[in-house]
Amino acid sequence: MNITTLPELLDKMWKDYTSMNPQALKIYTLFIERGDQVQNDHIALRTFNHPKVNIEVLARPFVEGGYEYRQDYHFPDKKLYAKHFEHPDEQMPKIFISELKLEEFDKELQSVVNNLIEQIPEGLPQQYDFCSLGRPWEVSYEAYEKLREKSEYAAWMAAHGYRPNHFTVFVNTLTSLKDIREVNEFIKQYGFKLNDSGGEVKGSKEVYLEQSSTLADTVEVDFTDGKHKVPACYYEFAQRYSLPNGKLYQGFVATSADKIFESTDKSQ
Ligand code: NI
Repeated sequence: MNITTLPELLDKMWKDYTSMNPQALKIYTLFIERGDQVQNDHIALRTFNHPKVNIEVLARPFVEGGYEYRQDYHFPDKKLYAKHFEHPDEQMPKIFISELKLEEFDKELQSVVNNLIEQIPEGLPQQYDFCSLGRPWEVSYEAYEKLREKSEYAAWMAAHGYRPNHFTVFVNTLTSLKDIREVNEFIKQYGFKLNDSGGEVKGSKEVYLEQSSTLADTVEVDFTDGKHKVPACYYEFAQRYSLPNGKLYQGFVATSADKIFESTDKSQ
């Protein structure tokens, strides 16, 4: 199917994401069965800061569809930069796009990543649903492991390419569970594991945002030198608080997101 509109793109992203990340669909279904409405707080996308595929390239279909840039974030330890975009319709998920700052890495990582980017056919990044096309390159497990020593994020990108890294349940709209702690306990009852790097709940009421996430599902990926199991995507939960002006905080908290990124680390 030819994807040409924002609703079609968001629908395709959800289908791709849940097919690769069955735990998200299971948890989503548990909420629905309790009679909850599940609103998506944000979708996170990953890329490299190379001009062929950087944040601006990935953001294009969203900006064309009415999304507006709101705020940017720096993650010096992970050598990442990110921007978030919002749609005037508050029911629409925020879009959070991060990019790896290649120039801050050594020549070896740069050369592996540049080799991946060179394999992307010219014009493909301009395709409307590029952010959900999957992996547009071939890569060996050896290269994946080499990247992983320097950046788990780079290794994740190499293995999975362009697809949502996570969707996020907006906890405020759940009616059967009162806060993010109850959500965490509910999910753990069903055997799902949470990322506890920096504690299960990241952030606080004082920074107007609390977040938690599952640990990524492991999936088998085709590498040029064989199939290997690697971490894929995770499901996130976000509870937002009101600012002094009474409006719900819509941004992100870099110190919390920094820990959330680790949900796809292989060591977990
Ligand atoms: Ni997130």
